[in-house]
Amino acid sequence: MTAAVEPSRILSVEGLSARYGHVEALHPVDLHVETGELVAVLGPNGAGKSTLMRALMGLVPTQGSVAFHGHAVPRRSPAKAAAMGLVLVPEGRGIFAPMTVAENLELGAYLLNDKQEFARRHDRVMTLFPRLKERLAQTAGSLSGGEQQMLAVGRALMSDPKLLLLDEPSLGLAPRVIEEILQTLGELNRAGLPIILVEQKAPLVLTLARRAYIMSVGSIAAEIDPRQVKSHDELAHFYLG
Ligand SMILES: Nc1ncnc2c1ncn2[C@@H]1O[C@H](COP(=O)(O)OP(=O)(O)O)[C@@H](O)[C@H]1O
Ligand SMILES: [Mg+2]
Repeated sequence: MTAAVEPSRILSVEGLSARYGHVEALHPVDLHVETGELVAVLGPNGAGKSTLMRALMGLVPTQGSVAFHGHAVPRRSPAKAAAMGLVLVPEGRGIFAPMTVAENLELGAYLLNDKQEFARRHDRVMTLFPRLKERLAQTAGSLSGGEQQMLAVGRALMSDPKLLLLDEPSLGLAPRVIEEILQTLGELNRAGLPIILVEQKAPLVLTLARRAYIMSVGSIAAEIDPRQVKSHDELAHFYLG
């Protein structure tokens, strides 16, 4: 089904819920992403942020609809969602530790059968993350946490995403490394890549995101313009409802 949507709306989510067994961890939510946007999803631990990302990809059983550029994203088929351009960098990064950096990057482009295009994407990742270039032959497990996160983003970029979903890329990293990674994400976004950025620590995304959804106990509790948030107290108000 093709829905009549505004051309600027690339992702349209309606009544999306998700369950683990009999437990509904995500209550029906509506959200959207516009062309070129970086949208943040904020909320405390256990709010359902990761479940929402898995639900968008079809990695958990869901109800409701997800449309990307007006086309329904099939439920329960992460491979099809990825083929449409929705690519998730999961919480915990999901890289393959015993494999080399180069092999992890190749996995991101396993659908691709075009050497020139592969080289183009690979060059782009090397330019964005020069530290990975020096470590192509090393096993991913031997990288620092920050480098592993760069590899996870790099692998996602190898599949040429049309919408990048990032689940807490800052988790467990030192402030300076977080800043470096967020800067690169900002660069990617300014170059035109739409991004959904999940973070627990709201201040990290305040300068990057144009809009933020605040999640609380499995629902979207509010939508805010992070640039309008003047203080941490004000933000706490959104968190606590
Ligand atoms: N694999 C799972 N099986 C059962 N319950 C889960 C699973 N993953 C998460 N949950 C539950 O779903 C809720 C939302 O979790 P999650 O989406 O991971 O939150 P967040 O990413 O915001 O920390 C929590 O109550 C959590 O305990
Ligand atoms: Mg999470």
